[in-house]
Amino acid sequence: MDVVRDTAELRARIGEWRREGARIGFVPTMGNLHNGHFSLIALARTRAERVVASVFVNPTQFGPREDFASYPRTPEQDSAGLAAQGCDLLFLPAVETIYPFGAQHTVRVEVPVVSEPLEGVLRPGHFAGVATVVTKLFHLVQPDVAVFGRKDYQQLLVIQRLVADLGLPVEIVPAPTLREANGLAMSSRNQYLTAEERERAGVIHRTLCTMRDAVNAGRDRGAIEAEALAALANAGLVPDYATIRRQADLAEPAAGERVGLIALIAARLGRARLIDNLVTDP
Ligand code: PAJ
Repeated sequence: MDVVRDTAELRARIGEWRREGARIGFVPTMGNLHNGHFSLIALARTRAERVVASVFVNPTQFGPREDFASYPRTPEQDSAGLAAQGCDLLFLPAVETIYPFGAQHTVRVEVPVVSEPLEGVLRPGHFAGVATVVTKLFHLVQPDVAVFGRKDYQQLLVIQRLVADLGLPVEIVPAPTLREANGLAMSSRNQYLTAEERERAGVIHRTLCTMRDAVNAGRDRGAIEAEALAALANAGLVPDYATIRRQADLAEPAAGERVGLIALIAARLGRARLIDNLVTDP
């Protein structure tokens, strides 16, 4: 596996593969890779002859009181894991490589409406940071396909809209969420949890399953959401939201609407803020 830090070298290497007629698959990440990330690499492998991963902790998607400085950085371990997964190239840029004019002076990409509810309310500017860095990475790598996890469902919608609206020639492939045995979605931020908190965090997935079943039983959305918030609080979590939305755009469903919905939760536990979701289709 090649490890490349510089954009000229990245273009040269990928250009060679493209001239050989290879399809390029891409998996952008912030590193501290776990099996959820590795499953994205495996999925990219099935769609492309060459797979490129990036590890870049993107400063513009973190709020001023968020964990940019303490975000776990494990480049050696990530590089070894990616090589073992058969990744062909790891792009490991410095902040100045991605933001040559500085983060404040960068061209910014905003995706209206779908960025606005839920995470958009709680993390102002977050999705502009994500859309900006992903646009830059797509221009540098020029992938044919890129894989994004359903675990970050609103992010997936933002990227799909970004690509559709700007007409970017990249196919976005959504990947299923990998979970621990107790249902906890794998996440780099699970590092912040103690063993006891990790066990307790299983309540998030259990609550999502209860919400799904309640939607299918025809129960009232307000009651479902109130019970979900209570279940999370009872387990000692501090929920930011537990809500049923439309899969297509995260808008609030009308009364009696039952098809094409998704349950989403964000909650804080110890030092971590955890998000997860579950499509409610039976
Ligand atoms: P990061 O949190 O490192 O996630 C990288 C990719 O892995 C995302 O597409 C995410 O949805 C996916 N992923 C995370 N946990 C997963 C799990 N348990 N199962 C399956 N996929 C999972 O998301 C980001 O980085 C950044 O916002 C990024 C897109 C790289 C832009 O900076």
